[in-house]
Amino acid sequence: MGKKLLITIDGPAGAGKSTVSKALAQILSYLYLDTGSLYRAIAYKMIKEKKNSEDTQFIANLSNSLNLHLLAEKNILKIILDDVDITDLLRTEGLALLASRISAIPIIRETLLPIQRQFGKIGGMIAEGRDMGTVVFPNADLKYYLTATLEERVRRRHKELLEAGNDSEREEIRDQMILRDRQDMERLIAPLKVPVDALVIDSTGMAVGEIVAAITHDVELKQS
Ligand code: DC
Repeated sequence: MGKKLLITIDGPAGAGKSTVSKALAQILSYLYLDTGSLYRAIAYKMIKEKKNSEDTQFIANLSNSLNLHLLAEKNILKIILDDVDITDLLRTEGLALLASRISAIPIIRETLLPIQRQFGKIGGMIAEGRDMGTVVFPNADLKYYLTATLEERVRRRHKELLEAGNDSEREEIRDQMILRDRQDMERLIAPLKVPVDALVIDSTGMAVGEIVAAITHDVELKQS
């Protein structure tokens, strides 16, 4: 077995990042760091404590008051907030939208940066998010930017939500995705963009297996 690599996958919502990252983590026996969950965890805390993004005192105190831990169990990442495992509570569109909104706040990004980097030291990791290759892990061994057409991303998210028992309107998902893309790409700090040294993969019409095979091939080349 070769050197354990740090692989980053950035891209917009619904591009297939999580599915590809999970499959890769399993095949390579790597850890999967889903950084969107960290922003969602803060959004969750805000809703639970009835705070909003205009609450400057809450935001200013966040770096001291945040009790957020990541726990690696096999290849799965558990998100522990205030000693409670909230991993399975974070996958709603409402939390995604709030996470996107608050992710533009500098203190929030600064608070989460060391947590992510500390985790990156473990080695053998797939780090997925919006600024993995550009800001958090600029020296990653392999960088990818995964994207797909808006219609394809909406179709996937709709299917995912239906399978999870949430019946949402396709139009609503489309509107939220457009808004989230705009927020994530236009924010001033760490906006979503293609890292200069990343390989762009358009997953529209591609099977997950094809993408995973292409990346594992790159990993083998990198290790040889
Ligand atoms: O990947 P996700 O859908 O779980 O992410 C939710 C939001 O969190 C996303 O719209 C923007 C923010 N985010 C970010 O700003 N930087 C990251 N590395 C990951 C997510």
